Amino acid sequence: MRAVLYGYGRVNQSTHRLAVTRPWLHVSGLIATRDGPPSDLTQGLAVHADAAGLLERLRPDVVIVATRSRVVDALPQLRIAAAARPRVVLCTAEELAWLAPDDPARDELTALARQHGVAIVATGVNPGFVLDLWPLVASGLAWDIRSIRARRVSDVSGFAPVTRSRLGLDHTPESFAAGVADGSVVGHLGFPESIRILGARLGRPVDEVRLTTEPVIAERRYELPDGVVEPGRTIGADQRAVGLVDGIPWITIELMVHGAPSVGGVPAIDEVLIEDEHPIHVRVDPGFAGVRGTAALLVNGIPEARRAAPGLHGPGDLPPTAPWLGATLA
Ligand SMILES: NC(=O)c1ccc[n+]([C@@H]2O[C@H](COP(=O)([O-])OP(=O)(O)OC[C@H]3O[C@@H](n4cnc5c(N)ncnc54)[C@H](OP(=O)(O)O)[C@@H]3O)[C@@H](O)[C@H]2O)c1
Repeated sequence: MRAVLYGYGRVNQSTHRLAVTRPWLHVSGLIATRDGPPSDLTQGLAVHADAAGLLERLRPDVVIVATRSRVVDALPQLRIAAAARPRVVLCTAEELAWLAPDDPARDELTALARQHGVAIVATGVNPGFVLDLWPLVASGLAWDIRSIRARRVSDVSGFAPVTRSRLGLDHTPESFAAGVADGSVVGHLGFPESIRILGARLGRPVDEVRLTTEPVIAERRYELPDGVVEPGRTIGADQRAVGLVDGIPWITIELMVHGAPSVGGVPAIDEVLIEDEHPIHVRVDPGFAGVRGTAALLVNGIPEARRAAPGLHGPGDLPPTAPWLGATLA
């Protein structure tokens, strides 16, 4: 399978590192708006900003789009990628994980996929796995679920300072509150998608999702890889999204992003609690890796995605993703 990576940030650089270990997969080109840091992987590979031109020339089997979070921002890249008629387009845009039945983007992407014979697959660790698919898999053992709660603590020290600021780090309490109000502090994106995936797949869709975002104030000085957070400023954000049915909480997802979780006494773990006649409690310690895990889902998702019918596929629509470790694809 010949793949082109569309966007060459953290995710697709990691995807590239994993792709070279799979004998059946060959990265033949990169689409990026600017040159990244030189590396042994990119040597000899042209970096092009002209996506349509590169795809036309290389005619890949797979295009991996890891560029933007919002559907409105990722749509232009998805249109170009689908028009090149690869077998598969995989995309990490958070909002793509769940599109409402009446969302015009769903109709457009479904039509595009069918027109060009492409499987467009939304994937990623979160949304796409940790707080939706993973609790859903665990719920297969449940009898009569009363409620679901999933919690993740995510170490975001590896993100650039500008991204950390958007997540909610290194603000005063006042600038944090102002940022939440004006949308410049967003924390994690993907709560509604995860909650709606769970509700829809369990046959009890939520009527409403309520999100709260609170600051985590540093009680000491934190040294991060490329910066410092002084006491009294924010070292993280603690978010809680509740999906309600008839006004009653049904699915609750909590996520804390933190600059140094283990130092702060909040280990980076993932947890699922299913309130049931026979309660289910799953704890993953340390929690699933965000960027590395997403790269794995992208590469490991290719073998099943290439068998999928043309159309738009969300998390859980295709058989479970597992690495294909053979030399050639079955
Ligand atoms: N669902 C999930 O679990 C999950 C997990 C990880 C990441 N994500 C999302 O996936 C996206 C990529 O993640 P990331 O960590 O790799 O982000 P990143 O480090 O910011 O990289 C994104 C890259 O895409 C490039 N880009 C944006 N628009 C482009 C375009 N039209 N043509 C070519 N390149 C373009 C950006 O270049 P410029 O900087 O020059 O614009 C940047 O280099 C983000 O939106 C992220 O939030 C989702």
